[in-house]
Amino acid sequence: MKYNFDEIVPRKHTDCLKYDNVKEIFGTEEILPMWIADMDFRTPSFIVDAIRKRMDHEVLGYTYCCKRWKPAIQSWVSRHYGWTVEADEIGFVGGIVPAISFALQCFTNVGDKVLIQPPVYHPYHHVTHDLERTLVTSALKLVNGQFEIDFTDFEEKIKGCKVFLLCNPHNPGGRVWTREELVRMCEICVKNNVLVISDEIHCDMALKGYKHIPFAESCAAAKDICITFMAASKTFNIAGLKSSYHIIQNEEIRQKYHAFLRKSELDTAHVFATGPVATAYNEGDEWLEQMLEYVEANIDYMEQYLKENMPKMGMIRPQASYLVFLDARSLGLPHDSLIEFFIREAKVGMNDGAMFGEGGSGFMRMNLGCPRSVLEKALTQIKTAYDKLV
Ligand SMILES: Cc1ncc(COP(=O)(O)O)c(C=O)c1O
Repeated sequence: MKYNFDEIVPRKHTDCLKYDNVKEIFGTEEILPMWIADMDFRTPSFIVDAIRKRMDHEVLGYTYCCKRWKPAIQSWVSRHYGWTVEADEIGFVGGIVPAISFALQCFTNVGDKVLIQPPVYHPYHHVTHDLERTLVTSALKLVNGQFEIDFTDFEEKIKGCKVFLLCNPHNPGGRVWTREELVRMCEICVKNNVLVISDEIHCDMALKGYKHIPFAESCAAAKDICITFMAASKTFNIAGLKSSYHIIQNEEIRQKYHAFLRKSELDTAHVFATGPVATAYNEGDEWLEQMLEYVEANIDYMEQYLKENMPKMGMIRPQASYLVFLDARSLGLPHDSLIEFFIREAKVGMNDGAMFGEGGSGFMRMNLGCPRSVLEKALTQIKTAYDKLV
């Protein structure tokens, strides 16, 4: 491999949420952090160099989205997803959670219904709730170790909803939705006049044998009912840059969203937001390929380790990204004891599955975007605690 993903890059004392905030999150400093979704790998040097080059100028005045940014996005989505997008269909927004919140404020009113598919990325719950919209849930069901959509339930629950918040690929379930599933969801949303907000932040990380399909590209009708949010943030480990974008192909939806953002200048980029992303998309194919290979090997390692050492602990094998939903239900521990077990006994900090809503209880979300030695340490710590328990 050209890139070294085994390297330990110390992250403590860098105002890093994952490491420097563990006391606040887990109540103890003595934790190996495997939680929030960024990676412990070094951000690729071509991106860091692009930021350095800009720094070298030493005047950080007002800026705009750099001219290389839209062509780089167009080329990326065309190369990776066969998706043809016009430049004016792309717009900047500083983070996908804020972007979702803006979209809900733009397209719904207080009390309007918003459908989500739990267990799902927790801010979908909070943002919808905090905006006083009504959360409607159509829970995914676990079938042969993978999450599936209960279409009968989905079709029933979507009635009267204004928006469907789709996580594509799904976090924490790790599903890469198939074209058939996307088209079926699209048909139901068209029939019920529902706007689809498709959060595709994990799109670039489909693993071996899986292919991400943008919702908008799944069938002819989809692009007219949706907003797509994408970013290079997860892909290239630059979440701290708060740089993401929307692609909206329907003129009416696009104009309305653009007008909403413009009113408060929410569509303006900071000086490091778009240049480094253009560089990432123009130069990052090889790094991404190797990073995914490494992550896939981590997932293989964990699967094998659990089978051999902790047969009562299962996992949902992700089809995309580095987040693994660890299935601890067979330990038979009540929720609070399970959390205590992982924090106090194993000393590994993960996201409590219950925070993702219905169907998440008994699971822990573990971040495998780390050097193998860190994963080995985490699994050894969990096994030591497990051996005392079973
Ligand atoms: C599905 C999903 N959407 C959005 C985000 C966060 O996006 P941002 O940092 O751009 O707000 C995450 C981060 O983990 C995520 O998993």
